[in-house]
Amino acid sequence: MTISIPHGGTLINRLDEKYDVSTIQTTVELDKTGLSDLELIANGAYSPLTGFLGQEDYKKVVHNMRLSDGNVWSLPITLPVTKKRAESLKAGESVRLTFEGVTYGVLQLEEIFTPDQETEAIHVYKTNDQAHPGVKKMFERGDTYLAGPVTLVRSPEKDQFSHFYLNPSKTRETFEQKGWKKVVGFQTRNPVHRAHEYIQKAALEIVDGLFLNPLVGETKADDIPADVRMESYQVLLENYYPKDRVFLAVFPAAMRYAGPREAIFHAMVRKNYGCTHFIVGRDHAGVGDYYGTYEAQEIFTQFTEAELGITPLFFEHSFYCNKCENMASTKTCPHDVEDRVILSGTKVRELLRKGETPPVEFSRPEVVQVLIKGMKVSV
Ligand code: ADX
Repeated sequence: MTISIPHGGTLINRLDEKYDVSTIQTTVELDKTGLSDLELIANGAYSPLTGFLGQEDYKKVVHNMRLSDGNVWSLPITLPVTKKRAESLKAGESVRLTFEGVTYGVLQLEEIFTPDQETEAIHVYKTNDQAHPGVKKMFERGDTYLAGPVTLVRSPEKDQFSHFYLNPSKTRETFEQKGWKKVVGFQTRNPVHRAHEYIQKAALEIVDGLFLNPLVGETKADDIPADVRMESYQVLLENYYPKDRVFLAVFPAAMRYAGPREAIFHAMVRKNYGCTHFIVGRDHAGVGDYYGTYEAQEIFTQFTEAELGITPLFFEHSFYCNKCENMASTKTCPHDVEDRVILSGTKVRELLRKGETPPVEFSRPEVVQVLIKGMKVSV
């Protein structure tokens, strides 16, 4: 066993491919986020959740970042439908959960409730501005929530990177086989650039292994597509990381861009995958100017390490400094901003789309080649 205990004490498993759905008439069609949440509840990544949140848990999560049983939980995992769709559903019935007409799960519908989404937006995203991609999506997805335990009856089809899709029970087993006692998790929705590499390797100096766990569910349209990123991660690992100290597997969740709240969520989920440590750097899971640079680190002070059950490792803004001739951060570099190679994500994507190469101080050339090739195909 690795020393990380699943959140809530037990790794949830709600997978039953033999479940007979033939007698269930009622169906609810999921969107991509719904399907990914269903899978992640069922495979234990969202332990201790066993289903979509009921009203009591929902309110506690929105207001207090806790489930009713006291466990820390910062993002409401809900199943939204339109009010009209909800009118023909009854609490107490079983519902087939479909995606593009195919049944993937069953919901024991316990509750149908109308959330206060304005309050949800303000508490979870700290804004009700519809220009925020997470807020926009929340309001678009439906104003009535269905709640109850779920069973996954069919695993969603995987893309060409299927061998990087591993359930938490499998990643735990892998860490154990490798003999890793301390495993640091790394969340990203971007290619791994030099700054990411720097903080990962700084963490690797003090733990046994790095779990590179890129999010590959829905992201905003201008983020770099997951398939291109997957190739770039492999090239990077092959060329710059010791093979026996890094493990790559995907996190098939949707990005919420909820900044601080999502950092807590990301940490809890990585604990379920078997991590003992989790990296939180600059503006984790942020978007635009909605969150302060280090707000996603500060939020951790609201909980004790015992109730989190995973140790966050915080890193300052990192960059290459031309005077230090090294990667550094605001904590270690005394030089001026002009000496530092800092590029925004938008700027980098702009360069890549034009087929231009960001400097080697910013990104490894092998990674850049994959990205340029991939961006040409995807735009
Ligand atoms: S996200 O999923 O958190 O939105 P992103 O790829 O931007 O993904 O960042 C991955 C992790 O690296 C986060 O913990 C983030 O805070 C950290 N990070 C990204 N860029 C830097 C940087 N230049 N310096 C320090 N930390 C960074």
